[in-house]
Amino acid sequence: MDNTNTPRRVEHQQTDRGYVPVYATGVVEQPWDNYTRTDHEVWDTLFKRQRELLPGRACKEFLAGVERFGLGDGGIPKFADLNKVLGETTGWELVAVEGLLPDEVFFDHLANRRFPVSWWIRKPDQLDYLSEPDLFHDLFGHVPLLLNPVFADYMQAYGRGGMKAFAIGPEALMNLTRLYWYTVEFGLINTDEGMRIYGAGIVSSKGESIYCLDSAAPNRIGFGLERVMNTRYRIDTFQQTYFVINSFEQLFDATRPDFTPIYAELKSHEAHAAAEVLASDRVFNRGTREGFVQGGDA
Ligand code: PHE
Ligand code: FE
Repeated sequence: MDNTNTPRRVEHQQTDRGYVPVYATGVVEQPWDNYTRTDHEVWDTLFKRQRELLPGRACKEFLAGVERFGLGDGGIPKFADLNKVLGETTGWELVAVEGLLPDEVFFDHLANRRFPVSWWIRKPDQLDYLSEPDLFHDLFGHVPLLLNPVFADYMQAYGRGGMKAFAIGPEALMNLTRLYWYTVEFGLINTDEGMRIYGAGIVSSKGESIYCLDSAAPNRIGFGLERVMNTRYRIDTFQQTYFVINSFEQLFDATRPDFTPIYAELKSHEAHAAAEVLASDRVFNRGTREGFVQGGDA
């Protein structure tokens, strides 16, 4: 390994010690020239697979974003090109990172309309499963919806809410993480044309893009803020429950209130298992639970 991937783009900040570089943001320059032919082929293969599968499955806002960015023009996109489009629309900016960031750093990026994207892509033998987010997940999964004004604002509000939850404590942070998981990562949306996917963890996975809509096994339940914030989730299997929103406006409005009293209230409630269906749920599909792995919810 050479040192091409060490941080080159360094942010500066006025502090008590003067104007200093801040390495803690985790931001590097996308080492675009270093991608191999194989890296580009992995992108093209994954892109083609999802592009064929997702019409009629992903929501139209997601599909429009994919086209607008030209994510399928061939090879791994350059963040600088995508940032021109983002700059002209919702004002978000992609920043390249090595991988997962500490919570407070991640929140700070989102709160400032910067979306961190892992610069590296999975290997050809990892097309179907990867335990940590790579470029395909982060870019193909998350970035198209950043062109939607309401979703773009939701992501920023989430970042600000994250800073607040971080200051309150680990339980609050867990409640907020569950909200991210069941919306940004694994959310479904009910549209006039039918149920559609908007979650990044789904659209970047061939298997789950099919399973989440077609399988009778998982629950599909109407979104409720406290319901979601109090429900454990799966990190090692497809989800056992998907939560369905009616619109991005509904999601944004539901998350507008101050969460401080909600965090306090939830402290005294036992969290629901990922597979559980409650009497108060609006049930679109009561899962048959076929193939469910018992236990091991995060
Ligand atoms: N309204 C939330 C709060 O007060 C912040 C938030 C907004 C969290 C949007 C998630 C999504 O903490
Ligand atoms: Fe993600």
